[in-house]
Amino acid sequence: MIIWPLQMIFDLTAKKLISYTYDPAKSSENLRENFVAFIRGLISFPLNIPGTAYNKCLEGRSKAMKMLKDMLEKRRTMPEKQHGGDFFDHVLQELKKEGTILTEAIALDLMFVLLFASFETTSLAITFAIKLLTAHPQVLKELTEEHEAILRSRDNPNSKLTWKEYKSMTFTNKVISETVRLANIVPGIFRKSLRDIKIKGYTIPTGWAVMVCPPAVHLNPSKYEDPLAFNPWRWKGVELNGASKHFMAFGGGMRFCVGTDFTKVQMAVFLHCLVTKYRWEAVGGGDLVRTPGLSFPNGYHIKVSEKTRGTQESTKKMEES
Ligand code: HEM
Repeated sequence: MIIWPLQMIFDLTAKKLISYTYDPAKSSENLRENFVAFIRGLISFPLNIPGTAYNKCLEGRSKAMKMLKDMLEKRRTMPEKQHGGDFFDHVLQELKKEGTILTEAIALDLMFVLLFASFETTSLAITFAIKLLTAHPQVLKELTEEHEAILRSRDNPNSKLTWKEYKSMTFTNKVISETVRLANIVPGIFRKSLRDIKIKGYTIPTGWAVMVCPPAVHLNPSKYEDPLAFNPWRWKGVELNGASKHFMAFGGGMRFCVGTDFTKVQMAVFLHCLVTKYRWEAVGGGDLVRTPGLSFPNGYHIKVSEKTRGTQESTKKMEES
């Protein structure tokens, strides 16, 4: 079985946000490919000639925006709630309200940013988590135990994951925090100084752009012992509901990532299904490159097979003995 987190997550979010499914018979434009081209050139040398990453980035953005604009126009001519009340429907309703601050341009930008922010980030985090778990059997063991214990505590073994069960995933939460700390998916956060800021003998003048670099904190040995080690247990007793001076994988302050909790739920549900239903082995790829964001240039290939009842029960017996 082949899992493509990037494709899987884009398809899921595109369906929920704009009810989009790529159909090559209907359109030659693939929305996901345009977003991928946009993301690849997001931090690139700004040379706008055909063939460069920057040029592809600009083209990806304008093609994706055109697709979203066409969708918006088509929806305007349709009766309401044609799309089962997806997110785009709600935005359109807001757009129609009198006195709204939303304009068509803001609405389109909003849809663009949500699609952009919600798929590459989580797909990278999930891929990286699988890679880390593969290399750290002790972590995988404790994670699997947490999830199998959830299954065992159910009255009905076939019932679906509940919010209460999600809130009980304490070790999973640590695995997720440790994964995003090491992943540093967003290598820089931008701010503007609103007044002169004095720091370590220097002054950042008013109006200057400041780039905060989360990896500099996340990989700092004075903040994290053995910072390059994947050690979810380091989060024991640490309450992480938002950002802190030492943890800014999701940014911080006024612009704190709106998708933080969604990401955590999505990752936890994915890991729950993965470790309870499947086993896997790495079969290829897995090289990590920072460009400067995290990327897997040759993917990360795993062979996944379904866990048999027998193997689940033997894990249970091992635990009990
Ligand atoms: C592993 C997953 C993710 C990571 C590491 C991540 C990281 C970040 C970071 C560092 C910022 C910048 C915050 C700042 O400037 O302080 C940000 C902003 C944002 N993120 Fe995420 N994000 C993730 C997932 C998501 C998801 C799933 C969504 C959407 C559902 C999302 C939506 C946004 C939006 C809309 C902003 C802009 C917030 C604003 O400027 O007010 N993110 N994210």
